[in-house]
Amino acid sequence: MNSQALIQDQREQLPEQQHLNYARRVNLGGYYTHGEYVSVVWDFIRPLLSPGSTILDSSCGYGNFLRAVPNMRVVGNDIDTAAIQVARRSSPFADMYNLNALTTLSRSDFGIPDDSPLFIVGNPPYNDTTSIIRNGTKKLLFDIDPSVQSRDLGISFLLSYQRLQADFVCVLHPLSYLVKRTNFMAMKRFADCYRLVDSLIISSGTFSETSKSMQFPILIALYEKNLFGMDYSYVQSNTFRTAENKRFSLDQFDFIGKYISKYPTRNIAPTDGSEILFWTMRDLNALKRNRTFLDKYESNAIIVPPDKLDYYVYVDVVKEFSRVFPYYFGNFDVMINNELFLKYRDSFISNALSRHPSLMKFYPAFRTVDGAEERIIEYLKHLLGEHYVESTNN
Ligand SMILES: C[S@@+](CC[C@H](N)C(=O)[O-])C[C@H]1O[C@@H](n2cnc3c(N)ncnc32)[C@H](O)[C@@H]1O
Repeated sequence: MNSQALIQDQREQLPEQQHLNYARRVNLGGYYTHGEYVSVVWDFIRPLLSPGSTILDSSCGYGNFLRAVPNMRVVGNDIDTAAIQVARRSSPFADMYNLNALTTLSRSDFGIPDDSPLFIVGNPPYNDTTSIIRNGTKKLLFDIDPSVQSRDLGISFLLSYQRLQADFVCVLHPLSYLVKRTNFMAMKRFADCYRLVDSLIISSGTFSETSKSMQFPILIALYEKNLFGMDYSYVQSNTFRTAENKRFSLDQFDFIGKYISKYPTRNIAPTDGSEILFWTMRDLNALKRNRTFLDKYESNAIIVPPDKLDYYVYVDVVKEFSRVFPYYFGNFDVMINNELFLKYRDSFISNALSRHPSLMKFYPAFRTVDGAEERIIEYLKHLLGEHYVESTNN
C-alpha cells in the first residue's frame, strides 16, 4: 500500500485559539488556520514526500498543520508555551519544541538531520513589526536574528526557512510579499533560493478573527528550492489562481505608476497655493481608505503636474468605483487600460468634477457628460473582464 495514502488526513478539528488575550494575539499573530486550508497545503506536498522526509511547522500553534505520516518525522514548534502544551496532546506523533523560530536557525536545534528532505508547512505570523512597536501597549515579544530581520514578521519567517535549508516550503502568507516590489526585495535572500511552483489565493476575510471590512489576499504558496531562485519578472508572469477559480497574471495588466508619480517628489513644496494636490497613492486597498484630491498641502501630498491631471482624475474615479475590484487585487497599484481610458476620458472627468468642483478651472470648456457613470462601468468591465465584481448593494 502506498504509504502516502496513510497520512492521517481527516483529523478532528482543533479548537480555535482560546488562551491569548488581544495584545498577545496581535503580537504573536495567534490566528489559527482552518482545516480546509491545511488540506490545500497537504494536497500540495503529499506527492512530493518520500520516506525519511521531515515535516516541520516552526510556528505550529495548536498543531493544526501536523499530520502523522508513516516513515517520516513530524516536528512542531511554537514560542507560545501554552499553545505547545495543547499541540503535544493533539499531535502525540510529533516532536515538539518551544523555541523562538526566528533565532533558532539550524536544523540541529530541531533534531533534523542535514540529509533529510525538509518540508516546512504552516501559517507563520504576518505582522508589520514597526506598527507593533508604534502601537502603544504592544511591543515585540521576542528577538529576531539580524540575518532574518525584516519589517514584516512573515518575511522573517520565510528567511528563516532558507536558513534551515528547507527543500520545500508550503505556507500561507500575504500575496503582497510577492506582488509588491519592495516586499519582494525584502525577501530576496529567500527568492534567490526558492521558486513558486504552485499556489492558491484565499481571502483574509475567511479567517474568523481578522478584519472583514478590508479583506486582503493571502497566498497558500508552494516553493521549491531552486538553484536560480526567482526574480520579480518570474512573479509577474506567474499565473495565480484564486479560491473562486479565477486566474490572472500581473503582466496582463498595465498600472498607473507608468503614467504618473505615486509619491510626493522630495523637497518640492507648493509655492503659491494654486497647485493641485493629491494624496500619496499606494495600493487599491489604501486608496479605498485614503483621500484623493486635497484642499491643503500636507507632507504626504503629491503636487499634480497640470498636464497629468487626467490620470489623477482617473485614480479618483477608481476610488469611487473600487467596489468592482475583487479582494485579490487589493495590493495592486491602480490598474489602467490607457488606450481605452483615452476614449472614456470625458466620462471620468465629468464624474470627478461632480465631486471636486474646484477642479473645474482646469477644464474651463468642459460640459457634463450624460450617462457618465454607465460609461465608466463599461470601461471597468473591459478593464477587469471576468474579475469585475457585480455588487447588489450599490
Ligand atoms: C498565525 S498563527 C498560526 C498557528 C498555526 N500554524 C495554525 O495555522 O493554526 C502563528 C503562530 O506563530 C507563533 N509565533 C509567533 N512568533 C513566533 C516565534 N518567534 N517563534 C515561534 N513561534 C512564533 C504564535 O505563537 C502563533 O501560534
